[in-house]
Amino acid sequence: MKWPSHGGQPQAMKKLCNIENDKEILDFSANLNPLGPPTWLKEEIIQNLDSLTCYPDPSYSRSSSCIAEYEGASNGQILLTNGGAEAIFLAAKLFEGRKAIIVQPTFIEYERACIHYQIVTEDVFLDEKSDFQLPLQQIFEKMKEVDVIFLCRPNNPTGTVVDEESLKQLLNEGRNTGTYIVVDEAFVDFLPFSIPSLTRWLASYSNLILLRSLTKMYTIPGLRLGYVLANKEVIEKMREAQMPWSINAFADAVVPRLLEDRTFIEKTHHWLKLQSTYLFEKLTDLDFYCSTSKVNFYLLRDNLNPNRTDELFHYLFLHGILTRHTHNFKRLEGEYLRIAIRSEEENKQLLFYLQKWRNEQ
Ligand SMILES: Cc1ncc(COP(=O)(O)O)c(C=O)c1O
Repeated sequence: MKWPSHGGQPQAMKKLCNIENDKEILDFSANLNPLGPPTWLKEEIIQNLDSLTCYPDPSYSRSSSCIAEYEGASNGQILLTNGGAEAIFLAAKLFEGRKAIIVQPTFIEYERACIHYQIVTEDVFLDEKSDFQLPLQQIFEKMKEVDVIFLCRPNNPTGTVVDEESLKQLLNEGRNTGTYIVVDEAFVDFLPFSIPSLTRWLASYSNLILLRSLTKMYTIPGLRLGYVLANKEVIEKMREAQMPWSINAFADAVVPRLLEDRTFIEKTHHWLKLQSTYLFEKLTDLDFYCSTSKVNFYLLRDNLNPNRTDELFHYLFLHGILTRHTHNFKRLEGEYLRIAIRSEEENKQLLFYLQKWRNEQ
């Protein structure tokens, strides 16, 4: 079977798996916040419909100022982007024709961006045995020869978070070797407040580049909104490489209100804590492995049938539950399923069918 390269494509998956077009599907394959978008967002976009006929401010100065204030950074350290995806490609463009390390298994777009900009890549691997923590020594051995390291924190697809101490060591070593560390923080807003973003390190580490996406937290994949945080020189270079008017007027218009809506973030944290505690407890009881995720998705494997993950994928899909295969995540090779944390009702449905699967084995 030719597996699609990203989650969130229920119609395409139905076709691939010969499932009727109109069958209702619960989509656990996309890692979007089920509480979003915030209720006011559609109305706010409608209110801004007249922006359709004007070019947006090319420097997006109002949105940049709001982000700067929100992050405790300066305007010059921010670049608004067309989703996290554009941020990844702009970051890669800085290192065109040079050498990179990618910390795998991770989001496929770092590798695609490197290929696009003729960057020679070498992979290092996080693995389950070390709870997906950084293989620091291995990275240090290669670091002199590389210009940039791409890593994702919290990581997609594991949901795990590499520890701060290792990252500090990486950034310090990067200062000696002239290596930049690009950290994709697309899911950082889902982390408990006790695990903060790395923004506060920007002042001390000029080799740190942070990539952000508003897509996941606010459930706005169609709007396309993200940003980069880095030192002023890096941001200036990225700005020069960016297409003009890359961010549409509606996305630009809603930035201030999105960032002001702390209640939405708090509600999300409350939901996630409740649901993740509940799910991980039940799944462990049923003898499923779950990665020690700190965010809104996790890796799952049936401990009693570790070689039957594809079968489990199809079993769940036939029962109307779409999960994300891991065939195109290096070294995972389909051994796990990536599953989003959804509403209480949906999570219960998932547990129901996993229990049923267990009973039928
Ligand atoms: C780790 C990571 N970074 C960036 C992106 C892209 O985000 P956006 O939709 O904002 O471009 C994704 C999307 O799945 C992702 O998983």
